[in-house]
Amino acid sequence: MCDISNNRKFATFVLLTRLVLAQNPNFQPQTIDYNPQNPNYNQNQNVDYNSQNFEPVDDNRFRPNEGFDRGPSGDVRALLQALDLQGSQECTRNVAAQWDFETNVNQATQLEALNAQQVYSQFQHGVWELLNKVSLRNVPNSSVARQIRYLSIVGPAALSPDQLDRYNRLINDMLAIYNSASICALKEPFRCGLRLQPDLTNIMAFSRNWDELQYTWTEWRRNTGQNIKDLFEQMIGLSNEAARLNNFTDTADYWSFPFESSTLSLDLEDAWEDVKPLYELLHAYVRRKLRDYYGPERLNRQAPLPAHILGNMWAQSWSNIFDISQPYPGQNFLDVTPEMLKQGYTPLDIFRLAEDFFVSLNMSAMPLDFWQGSVVEEPLDRVVLCQPSAWDFCNRRDFRIKMCTNINMKDLITAHHEMAHIHYFMLYKNQPKVFRDGANPAFHEAIGEAVGLSVGTPKHLQSLGLLQNSVADSSVDINFLYLMALDKVVFLPFAYVVDKWRYDVFNGNVGKEQYNCHWWRLSEQYMGIKPPVLRSEKDFDPGAKYHIPANIPYLR
Ligand SMILES: *[C@@H]1O[C@H](CO)[C@@H](O)[C@H](O)[C@H]1NC(C)=O
Ligand SMILES: *[C@@H]1O[C@H](CO)[C@@H](O)[C@H](O)[C@H]1NC(C)=O
Ligand SMILES: *[C@@H]1O[C@H](CO)[C@@H](O)[C@H](O)[C@H]1NC(C)=O
Ligand SMILES: *[C@@H]1O[C@H](CO)[C@@H](O)[C@H](O)[C@H]1NC(C)=O
Ligand SMILES: [Zn+2]
Repeated sequence: MCDISNNRKFATFVLLTRLVLAQNPNFQPQTIDYNPQNPNYNQNQNVDYNSQNFEPVDDNRFRPNEGFDRGPSGDVRALLQALDLQGSQECTRNVAAQWDFETNVNQATQLEALNAQQVYSQFQHGVWELLNKVSLRNVPNSSVARQIRYLSIVGPAALSPDQLDRYNRLINDMLAIYNSASICALKEPFRCGLRLQPDLTNIMAFSRNWDELQYTWTEWRRNTGQNIKDLFEQMIGLSNEAARLNNFTDTADYWSFPFESSTLSLDLEDAWEDVKPLYELLHAYVRRKLRDYYGPERLNRQAPLPAHILGNMWAQSWSNIFDISQPYPGQNFLDVTPEMLKQGYTPLDIFRLAEDFFVSLNMSAMPLDFWQGSVVEEPLDRVVLCQPSAWDFCNRRDFRIKMCTNINMKDLITAHHEMAHIHYFMLYKNQPKVFRDGANPAFHEAIGEAVGLSVGTPKHLQSLGLLQNSVADSSVDINFLYLMALDKVVFLPFAYVVDKWRYDVFNGNVGKEQYNCHWWRLSEQYMGIKPPVLRSEKDFDPGAKYHIPANIPYLR
C-alpha cells in the first residue's frame, strides 16, 4: 500500500524549449492507431498541439442560421442532410491538415494543422448550439433521433472559447512535460538526456540489472507524473464541465456513453472475472521464473510482482521478459523475419500481401486512392511521425495508412492490422457521417487484433511460404502461445486499471489527496503488481503514462 510520507525532495527542472512529438511504442493495442473521425469521442489529442501557436481564426464557416432557419418545427431531415454534408467537408479539411502535418512535420504544416483543428472545433460548437435549440418532438423515427443525439455530442468543443483554450493549454503543457522528460544514466550523472524513446524503453526491455531498472522506473516518474499532477487536477475540472455541456453528468458518463450499456462497469467486471483464472496462472508462473532469476531474497513467493522487472515501463506487456521466462528455452522460435529478408520483401510487398489476405476473405482490394495516398515507407526528405495509423478522410473515397514499415514479422502483422481498420472504414462509408465509427469504441481494435492474431499463426505463415516445414513440435507452440499471453492477457488488467482509476477520479469518488494511493490499490488488486519503492501522494504515477496527460480514453 502507499505510504504518505514525504521521503524525497528533489528539485526538478523541465526544459520546455522544444515540443517533441509523442512517440508511442508501436504495436500495442491501446495506442490509438486509427483516426476515428466521428468527432464525438475523438479528443484528437494524440497529436501534440502547441496551443501557443494558435492563430485566431474567425472565418467560422458554419453559420447555423443559413439554410435551415425554420425554428423548432423545421424539417429535421433537411437539417440532418445539411449537417451531414457540411460535417463531412469540415472533417475532410481537418483530417487532410492533420495528415499533411504527420507525414511532413514542419512549422508550416503544424500551423495549418492547429488552425484546422480550431476551425473544426468552432464548427462543432456551432452544431452543438444549433442542436440545443432543435425541438426533438417532431423527430420521425429512432434512427433520426439517434443521429441528433450523437451529433449534439461534441466533447470539449462545447466549452466556451476561453475554456476550450484553457483545456487545450493544460493538455499541451502536460504533454510537453511528458514528451520532453529525460533522465540521466544510473551512476553517470553526466550522461543525461535519456528519453523514453528509445533509451528508457530499451532499458526497461533489455536490462536485467535490478538497480538500473528500479532507478529508471523511479526517475521517469519523478520527471513526468510529479510535474503533471496539478495540471491534471485542473484539467479534470474542465473535462467534467465539457461533459456536462454535452448533457452528461461527468467525463466518466461521457466516455461510457458510446458503449451503450447501462451496466458497463458490471460488464467489465464480469469480463475480467472470466479472464482472471488464466491471468493468475500466468502471474504465478512468471513470479516463479523471476524468483529463480533474481533470487528469493528479492522476490517473495506470495507478494505482488515488483513493477519494474517486467520488461515495460508500465508493466502493461511482459513480452520483453520472454527470454528469461520461456517454458522451453532453446527451442526454435516462430520468427519469419529472416525469411522475409532472405526473400527480399519490400514495404510495398508487405502491403500487397495484406491486401491478398483480405481478398482471400472475399473482401475488396484496396482502391487506387489508397495506394496513391498512403505512406508505407519512411521518406528520406522529410520528418514523419512514424506511429502506424489508418486514416479516414470522411469523403467515402480517400482512405490511407501511414507507416514507416520495416521488414520484419511485427510490421507484417501491423500492416494487416492497419488494413483491417481501412476495411472497416470502407464498409461503413455509406452510413451517415455521424455513424461512421466502430459499433462501440472497442470494435475497431478488436477487428484489427483478430486479423493480426490470425495472420501470425504458424499455419498461415506456412501458406505464405515464410515458414518452411510444419512446426509440429508442441514446445514451439507453447512458447508461441506463452509469448502471446505475455502481451495480450497481461494487457487486460492494466487497461482496466487505467480507466477504472480515471472513472473514479472523474466522478469524484477519488480526490487529489488519494490519486496515487488509489492507482496502486487498483494495480495491486487487478494486476498483482506493486511499486519497487515507497510511493506517496507527492508522486503521481498515473501521469507517467501517456494517455493520462493526453486525456485519451483507454477502454477500447
Ligand atoms: C512539406 O511541407 C512543406 C511546407 O509546407 C512543403 O513546401 C513541401 O512541399 C511539403 N513536402 C511534401 C512532400 O509534401
Ligand atoms: C427513419 O427516417 C429516415 C429519414 O427519413 C429513413 O431514411 C429511414 O428509413 C427511417 N428508418 C426507419 C427505421 O423507419
Ligand atoms: C439530456 O439527458 C437527459 C437525461 O439523461 C435526457 O432525458 C435528455 O433527453 C437529454 N437531452 C438531450 C438533448 O439529449
Ligand atoms: C463474395 O462477395 C460477393 C459480394 O461482394 C458475394 O456476392 C459473394 O456471395 C461472396 N462470396 C462468398 C463465397 O461469400
Ligand atoms: Zn488499431
